[in-house]
Amino acid sequence: MNSLTLHAPAKVNLSLRILGKRGDGFHELDTLMVKLPSLADEIQFDTSHEFSFACDDPSVPSDERNLVVKAVRQFQEATGLSASYRISLRKTIPHGAGLGGGSSDAASTLFGLNRLHANPLNDEKIQEIASSLGSDVPFFLLPGAAHCTGRGEKITPAPAPEPFRILLLKPAFGVPTPDAYRRWSQSQEIPGIRYAPQDLGGVQLTNDLERPVFEKHRFLAELKQWLLSRNDIAAALLCGSGSTIFAALKEGADAKQITQAAQCELDPGLWAWSGLTG
Ligand code: C5P
Repeated sequence: MNSLTLHAPAKVNLSLRILGKRGDGFHELDTLMVKLPSLADEIQFDTSHEFSFACDDPSVPSDERNLVVKAVRQFQEATGLSASYRISLRKTIPHGAGLGGGSSDAASTLFGLNRLHANPLNDEKIQEIASSLGSDVPFFLLPGAAHCTGRGEKITPAPAPEPFRILLLKPAFGVPTPDAYRRWSQSQEIPGIRYAPQDLGGVQLTNDLERPVFEKHRFLAELKQWLLSRNDIAAALLCGSGSTIFAALKEGADAKQITQAAQCELDPGLWAWSGLTG
């Protein structure tokens, strides 16, 4: 096979519960994640004389810090193969957004390289490499929704909730994930902001990272409350560690009109996307 193109989808956490801080510095989680199949980065592999990597988004590092390059290095080390492909990454998923873009890119890279080399690594080894690259990476190796525990790397496939239409809104700033977790244990709720679980077709939407993230970035708390005050929105929640907020849209809601209102009333620089959950 000479070339291969893969789509690396985004995710949202419908619920994210932090059970406590662990001895290794990570936090014990219980989270339900679903993919957004139509919000995806594109990764292309073309045969070449040596490995190289390029990304169309200049704000994303294209050196050894990139999770795609880290995945390639781990694949080379585990297999002894040179992985001589030119890998081109076209970013659509914003980074620092809580949408899992980098993790999904890494999972697709491992999957793609393994397939292009006729599967030298078994599923177990791929999962092991994936979890060493990041807590969210193993989730993207499996299709569909999942309950994730441990630091997020222990995956139990879950029945996918009925797909629903969501709107994602994200300000220009991102939230570094370690910062959100570091603040969690000391953080307080902001009076007047809704943190309580929201029922959406039997799923309890909740995110324990809202407390530390809203405390540091008040705008995100304001954005959530603004969404919740509208009667065309069923629920609103922080995505992962942010900085995206997602809204579950009621039937007939006009995503474009809501986006324009948010850009006009809150922040003209908001990035927006609307589509179905997977
Ligand atoms: O695993 P990942 O690279 O996504 O984690 C980034 C950072 O987020 C970790 O270094 C850690 O500070 C924090 N984190 C955590 N508990 C988790 C997942 C991430 O404390 N379950």
